[in-house]
Amino acid sequence: MSLPPFANEPVLELRRATERAKLAVAMGELRLPLKVGVWIGDERRFGDELVSTDPSDPQRVVAVAARATPDEAGAAVAVARTAFGGWAATPAPQRAAALLRAAAWMRERRAELAALALRECGKPWAEADADVCEAIDFLEFYARGAIELDAGPELLQVPGERNRLHYAPRGVCAVIAPWNFPLAIPMGMAAAALATGNTVVLKPAEQAPGCGLRVVEALRAGGVPAGAIALLPGEGDAGAALARHPGVATIAFTGSGPVGLELLRTAAELAPGARQLKRVVAEMGGKNCVIVDADADLDEAVPGIVASAFGYAGQKCSAASRVLVHEAVHDVLVERLAGAVQALQVGPPDDFASDVPPMIERSAQERVLRYAERAAQEGTLVTDARELPPAGWYAAPVVATGLPADSDVLRDEIFGPLLTVEAVRDVDDACDRVDALPVALTGALFARNPRTVARVVARSPVGNLYVNRSTTGAMVGRQPFGGNRLSGTGTKAGGGDYLLHFVEPRVVTENTLRHGLVV
Ligand SMILES: NC(=O)c1ccc[n+]([C@@H]2O[C@H](COP(=O)([O-])OP(=O)(O)OC[C@H]3O[C@@H](n4cnc5c(N)ncnc54)[C@H](O)[C@@H]3O)[C@@H](O)[C@H]2O)c1
Repeated sequence: MSLPPFANEPVLELRRATERAKLAVAMGELRLPLKVGVWIGDERRFGDELVSTDPSDPQRVVAVAARATPDEAGAAVAVARTAFGGWAATPAPQRAAALLRAAAWMRERRAELAALALRECGKPWAEADADVCEAIDFLEFYARGAIELDAGPELLQVPGERNRLHYAPRGVCAVIAPWNFPLAIPMGMAAAALATGNTVVLKPAEQAPGCGLRVVEALRAGGVPAGAIALLPGEGDAGAALARHPGVATIAFTGSGPVGLELLRTAAELAPGARQLKRVVAEMGGKNCVIVDADADLDEAVPGIVASAFGYAGQKCSAASRVLVHEAVHDVLVERLAGAVQALQVGPPDDFASDVPPMIERSAQERVLRYAERAAQEGTLVTDARELPPAGWYAAPVVATGLPADSDVLRDEIFGPLLTVEAVRDVDDACDRVDALPVALTGALFARNPRTVARVVARSPVGNLYVNRSTTGAMVGRQPFGGNRLSGTGTKAGGGDYLLHFVEPRVVTENTLRHGLVV
């Protein structure tokens, strides 16, 4: 099977009125609420225990879903185990072809899928479109990667011996996904597991069961057998029951740190009679810092920081939350940031003019407001209060300065539109503060001197460091993505090594010397 080289799916050019009109039509045609069942093999059980609503208009119901029980988690794993042999034995190019057809299915429904992500997760159009593109990218990228991996690496050969290494799938993979990239992240984890011959049970985030349904539909429409991909809508308890199941070989998780740690603990508990160690692929949160040196081009730094901190209302794991700026330019940067943030428009995601959409849910809105109050008490807010849309889980974008070094606001992942700014003596002082954090996901540096850049690169512990650009928007194949320290198990989604998490290496050594001929 020969495929053209991987290329990222181009995002829509939303400056064109024709593109915007197509999206508006798709939104008009979206029929809500979606009914999302527990979907195991060919069986579906519908229910109305889980309801996902539009964050910008919580009266609007986007999806009504069944909540999977622990028994259903067990049934899903049993079916996935039965299907494993057949899917694992399917030649890698055929598995890849199924993923490529799933990508084509998504491409055909691009506008509709973006509209759903917008409604269910409050993603503005550009971000929702990028989410669809990233899901397509994962399918295309891992399909190619799995074919390459299947060939195995070259080993040293000596006369009389043949050595081969091949990668075998591990078994059933539990995919547990967050809501903030409701199509791309579950699709990425599921596609990697499937491409390498594992079977998958997907537990989408409780805030995004509708998007989870579309992920499974795409894979099945592409030709992934019904037994090889199940949908288990539910809350955390459904994810916990799935992860605990002794039939699960791999847990692919993206979400918050505490849940990731719990899953690592779960994996370490051997079930009676267990014959395989569970592997955990965990991608978790961060506290992402932007260092600004005295010689930085502030015309580049200000929009870069604003996009990093306030795009999708700061609800990206890669979002910037702390600026560490050289004291010589602190005041001017703060003034310019305050002005830029004041000009941001807070509003519904389907309004092309909105810059800052709502938070995903009421509890997220309350969390951000709590931290903003704390920041106002402990430091200074340099952005003014503003009126917010009456309905929806909106939080005003905030910039805070002058916080004490031990403030929780400087340490916790707030996951909302709150940015802090601290003056530092120099970039080494900034690097010390970054190094003091237990998390290490993304970071950025704005500086002109190449020696400064080299020094910060050498000292930076983060998984993804961006120089003179924003901290968000990693592209499959271009910026393999994932964090270090407590931000994750060091995986790199969208990179060449990612598939290795889903396989086990097996080496076969054959004696090829013959001591006589048997006839
Ligand atoms: N590193 C990355 O690539 C990356 C990407 C996106 C989001 N994130 C992180 O995800 C978090 C936001 O997402 P979230 O709010 O959906 O995270 P979350 O941890 O609350 O939930 C993630 C998933 O885990 C499930 N879950 C919850 N409790 C569980 C349990 N005890 N056992 C098993 N599963 C359980 C949830 O139902 C959901 O499906 C942030 O911390 C963000 O930084 C990280």
